[in-house]
Order: sequence, then C-alpha cells, then structure tokens
Amino acid sequence: MTTVGIDAVEIRTGNLKLDLAETFAPAKDEDPAKYTKGLGLHSSSFPDVYEDIVTMGANAGKRLMDRKGLEPDDIGRIDVATESAFDHSKPASTYIAGCLEDVYEGDFHHANKGERKFACVAGTQAIDDAVNWIGSGKNRGRAALVIATDTALYARGDSGEATQGAGAVAMLIDEDPSLVSVDPVQGFGSADETDFLKPNQQFPSVDGKRSMQVYLARMREALTDVERQRDLHPDDFAVVPFHIPFPGMVRKGAALGYRHISRGTDVEEELAEEIGMQPRREDFEDDEAFRDALTEYTDSLTETDRYREWYDRTVEPTLGISRHVGNWYTGSVHLARASALKEARESGRDLDDEEMLVCSYGSGAQAEIHIETVQPGWEDEIAALNVDEQLRDRYDITFAEYEQIHEVHNYDETTDIDAFTTPEAEFVFDGWGRMGERK
Ligand code: HMG
Repeated sequence: MTTVGIDAVEIRTGNLKLDLAETFAPAKDEDPAKYTKGLGLHSSSFPDVYEDIVTMGANAGKRLMDRKGLEPDDIGRIDVATESAFDHSKPASTYIAGCLEDVYEGDFHHANKGERKFACVAGTQAIDDAVNWIGSGKNRGRAALVIATDTALYARGDSGEATQGAGAVAMLIDEDPSLVSVDPVQGFGSADETDFLKPNQQFPSVDGKRSMQVYLARMREALTDVERQRDLHPDDFAVVPFHIPFPGMVRKGAALGYRHISRGTDVEEELAEEIGMQPRREDFEDDEAFRDALTEYTDSLTETDRYREWYDRTVEPTLGISRHVGNWYTGSVHLARASALKEARESGRDLDDEEMLVCSYGSGAQAEIHIETVQPGWEDEIAALNVDEQLRDRYDITFAEYEQIHEVHNYDETTDIDAFTTPEAEFVFDGWGRMGERK
C-alpha cells in the first residue's frame, strides 16, 4: 500500500532574538529561573520590521522547493495554517504563492490554496487535509505544500509575554515520504472554550492558568479517543512530540499522558510497589478527591526512574529548538518533531520504522493525537536543516529595542524604526501594496 506523509521539512525563524534570562527577566524584575527553569524557555524569536507571516512562510517554502528541486507545477495544493492572519478574505497562501511566483518560472494557478484556522492545531489539520487529498487520488501525482506560520505575540504586560515567538515551518506532503508516514489512527478531544481568544484583535485575550487546564483536559480526551482504535503502551513510541506553548507545559502534558496510557498495563503493575496503583474513580466520594489523588499519583510517578528514563528518551529531545524560539503556535508541534529527529541524528540514534505519538493542540479548544512512522530517508532530510545557523545569526535585541519592535508589530503607524538586520536573499515585507520582493 502507498504511504502518505511528510516528505521534507524546512524551518524559518524570525531574525531577532529576545533573551529571556539576560534581557527580559531583569527588565521585569523577575528571577531568570522563572523563565529558564519554570517555563523552560531561554529565548524567543522575534520578527524584524521587514518580516511577517508571509515572508517567513515564503522563505521556508522557497528553501524547501529549492532543496527538493520542485517547480510550481509539482505542487497541487498550498495550505497555510496561521492564527496571525491580517486578511479576513484572502488566505495567506495566496500571498505566499505570489512571493514564490516572483522567483520561479511557472505559477501556482492550478493549485488549490487555502488557509486553515484553529489556533495552534491548524498546522496539523492542514497536514491531515493534504494527506486525505493525496489518499483520495485527487492530487494527480502532485504534492502539497503545508506552511504553518505565526507571529505569536502577546500584549505588553500580559502573562503570555514570556512565551512569545515567531517563525514558520514548511512541510511537503507526498506519497512515499522520506521523513514520516501519517498513519490512520487519530483521536480528538474538542470543546467550545474561551480561555484564549483573538476576536478581531491583534493580541490574544488569554486566561493563562485556565488555558493550561484546558490543554490537559483535551489531551486526555484525545488519548481516550485514540484508545478506542488501538491499545496504547508507553513503550510503543520512540518519540512523543507535543504542542509546545512552553516546555513547562509539555512536562505536565507528558506526565498526564504517561499516567493515562500506562493504566492497566504492566508498567502500572511494575510501579505499584514504589508508588501504589493508580487511583480508581469508584474508590472516591467525589470528583475533587479523585482529582487530588490523581495529582498526588502523577507527582510520585514523575519521580520514578522508569518515568524519567521514558521522558528523557521520548519527550526531552522534542524541546530542544523550542527552548530557544518560544511558541510558534501552528508550527510548534512540527518544530517538536523536527527537534527530536535532529537530536536523534546528532546522537546516532536509529529511528527507522519507529513510531511517534504526535500530540497537537489548539486553544478554543482541540487536541488531536495521531501516530506517525519514521521513514528510512529521515536522516538525510534532517541533515539538510540549517536551523542552528539561523538561530545563531539572530540579532539579540535589548529591552528598549524589544519595546520598539513590539510596537511595530502592533501595526502602530507612528513607530518608524530601521531594521536591526539586513535581509539577505530573502522575501521581505515591503508595505501592503507590494509583499514579498526579493532583495
Ligand atoms: P505566570 O503566571 O507568569 O508564571 O505565567 P507562573 O508564576 O505560573 O510560573 C511559571 C512556572 O515557573 C511555574 O511552574 C512556577 O512554579 C515556576 P509550575 O508550578 O507551573 O510547574 N517558577 C519558577 N521556577 C524556578 N525558579 C523560579 C520560579 N518562579 C516561578 N524563580 C502562564 C505562566 C502559562 C500562565 C503564562 O506564560 C501564559 O499566560 N502563557 C500564555 C498561555 C499559554 O501558553 N497557555 C498554555 C496552554 S494553552 C496552549 O498551549 C495554546 C496556545 O499555544 C495558543 C493556541 O493554541 O493558539 C497558547
């Protein structure tokens, strides 16, 4: 049977860096450890004045097309996932296609273009659409270009300010993929929630603490939905990438996930002597007492060697890039996958044919969990990433510069500042009338 999945990936960071320990924490009069240890973040990527979701997405897409030797005729579908769209009608994919058409011979006139919105889970939804499109045979031999691109900025003084980020992940979805196949098992946890909203506004209104609870609740539901289709065991998966608003959130999500899928397995039995069996609802008078017991069990679980070994092997490697770029919203879980594959390649870990449990999430709210299988070409694909160079080359902004650039991205027309970096052979934002000229 033909497999369909992610054939190639490219990552494009914003060209600026906000150092949370050295720059942000002192200005906020906070202990840097709150960010580096508590949230698990060292820095955020930020867009320079000439960057936005279109330029970052087009730059990632261009690098991917060049590396794979693709022409516009090879692409039958361009889907952009974003929650930072500036146009309520035209999808961002049309702007990105326009940029790419400026530099290739052909055009994308026969490609279907769309924009997917469901907070951060939209990137995964766009992959799902592309996989289904190819699986249905409507693709006529062509591949799909999926680009997850966001400027994840919060209002100044908002609790989310430490978790900002900006960047794009471009992915080529095709038959016989080199990186991962996307398998049919898929679970959802979805409910109408109002913890994170952007109703016609630039920055989100967010109830940060509640958003964390909603994240965990929807993940639990999605896992239950997956279990309706296939039995799960913690040792089934070599890598477990999560949506990463900040690595501290993943610490909590991973503990909940491990507890959930180890219930009723040999792992629960094995750990029973050390931390007891998991609490069962029927043994408690009310939900609150049951929840407290679950929290106590989870806290003990995360102290066990078995859990720690699992976490260090399957989850920790997914966090490497995010610790230095912050939340990229739609791109975040795809950075997690790339980060784990990159670390595996660098440490010589063999992931051929291993399974990943991919846990995506978007506020509003929906978790989606599916299984991917790593394909034998993954090492060559990952070797082609230049993310280390991009991260190293970012310009490190001072707090005063951060204040200015934040204003610029609030579309404040009174803020007119020079760029901090010089664009080099890349798409740049050049005013609303003319997007994407290549310098
Ligand atoms: P906060 O309230 O400023 O931080 O913001 P805090 O006081 O809760 O501290 C954070 C952690 O640092 C805590 O760890 C502290 O204990 C620890 P925890 O107890 O949770 O394990 N800490 C320290 N550790 C070491 N040394 C210290 C120290 N001080 C404190 N000195 C909050 C946290 C998440 C609320 C904030 O960052 C926020 O509002 N973020 C935005 C919302 C968010 O990211 N939510 C996550 C779930 S929703 C989601 O993922 C979707 C999203 O991506 C959007 C979408 O889908 O579109 C956001």
